[in-house]
Amino acid sequence: MSANPSDHKENVKIAPADGKLGILIPGLGAVATTTIAGVEAVRRGLGKPIGSLTQLATIRLGKRTDNNTPYIRDFVPLAKLDQLVFGGWDIFNDNCYEAAKNANVLEAPLLEKLREPLEAIKPMSAVFDQEYVKRITGPNVKKSKDKWELVQALIDDIKTFKEKSGATRATMIWCGSTETFKKPTAVHQTVASFEAGLKSSDSEIAPSQMYAYAALVSGVPFANGAPNLTTDIPAMLELSRERNIPICGKDFKTGQTFMKTVLAPGFKARMLGMSGWFSTNILGNRDGEVLEDPGSFKTKEETKLSVLDEILQPGLYPDLYKDLYHAVRINYYPPRGDSKEGWDNIDIFGWLGYPMQIKVDFLCRDSILAAPLVLDLVLFLDLAQRAGMRGIQEWLSFYFKGPMTAPGLYPEHDLFIQLMKLKNTLRWMQGEDLITHLGRDYYD
Ligand SMILES: NC(=O)c1ccc[n+]([C@@H]2O[C@H](COP(=O)([O-])OP(=O)(O)OC[C@H]3O[C@@H](n4cnc5c(N)ncnc54)[C@H](O)[C@@H]3O)[C@@H](O)[C@H]2O)c1
Repeated sequence: MSANPSDHKENVKIAPADGKLGILIPGLGAVATTTIAGVEAVRRGLGKPIGSLTQLATIRLGKRTDNNTPYIRDFVPLAKLDQLVFGGWDIFNDNCYEAAKNANVLEAPLLEKLREPLEAIKPMSAVFDQEYVKRITGPNVKKSKDKWELVQALIDDIKTFKEKSGATRATMIWCGSTETFKKPTAVHQTVASFEAGLKSSDSEIAPSQMYAYAALVSGVPFANGAPNLTTDIPAMLELSRERNIPICGKDFKTGQTFMKTVLAPGFKARMLGMSGWFSTNILGNRDGEVLEDPGSFKTKEETKLSVLDEILQPGLYPDLYKDLYHAVRINYYPPRGDSKEGWDNIDIFGWLGYPMQIKVDFLCRDSILAAPLVLDLVLFLDLAQRAGMRGIQEWLSFYFKGPMTAPGLYPEHDLFIQLMKLKNTLRWMQGEDLITHLGRDYYD
């Protein structure tokens, strides 16, 4: 892709967002039901989509003196909320109303008002493997002779969902539980080896990878909201490029890591040193329960830990960051439910090495922070697909703890650089001048 906006007018043609857009979600738990209920509430004027760039943010075009800042939703052709239709899979049979009630994020009076549309969303039977998520079991699971057949069943589910809902397009976003930690193996290297692995039911192929494969071969873009490997393997990159489908991931950047990627670039910008960052969390939702398992925690720990190293670049700044001690803990604590508490103790040092401390205590709500990200991601992925963009969508790094990048490229974690990249990508799509913040022309 060229960064020259004048190329755009010939190259980026964005198909209109006509008809219904299907949102397919593996994992109808706290995050998914808070998203769906939220969209239904906003449609009915019962709440505002706080936290969503696609619904609330503006984008500056041209010079600061031009006073031209349309809403993003008016600047690029996004699907509207009343064009969205939802479907999904879960290992539990609860419909979305029951699942939202169990998740206990949104208050009962609001859910009562949304009961009808939420009850209508019943989970399709899931592809599930206990080896990947140890702490939960459920009855609504597909049985088949091999993984290839399971994937065919998911492809059928997608087709049936589109037919029944009348959706002309769809996007899929993984909101399922965090799977156990895995590294890519031989089966993940090419589309051919992956397909052979499906046929031999290779134990290294995770359920989330089967959903992703089913999505991509069905022409459906895929986002990964959890830290699982899922699409971070050569076979999926190959498939997404071959089929011209956008993908992105992984692990929603919502609470503690969101704060980390706001604060750490600030310390680094001022060349302040750091000797330690200790992060701990208590949370009591089902996500917290799943993360009690060491395998699932390890997956989460990896995305949470990588952020600081990549922001601070200790190799470039040994005086400031080479001895940084960084630890992340998550403790399952049922009384808190979805209302998590994340503490951070940050040991920094300044001029002549004098030490200072910062404490952050973020009393957040996991799914309230995640829901607008889910909405933005499905709308932007759909836009990307209509704009003919394929493979990894690095401009959506803004939403992730562990942004996917081209092989060999380190990810950009700084939230504000990510935001600039996102907005410049939208400008580029629409043939507008990119904003570099140089601003010399104001003073000439
Ligand atoms: N702020 C946040 O909430 C946040 C931030 C980053 C990442 N995440 C990730 O998002 C995911 C969802 O979080 P949540 O709080 O909604 O969790 P949750 O436990 O409430 O929901 C996950 C759902 O996925 C289902 N599931 C598990 N495996 C499945 C499979 N193979 N197929 C279909 N369904 C399956 C479970 O039954 C459960 O209902 C988790 O992986 C979590 O780590 C959440």
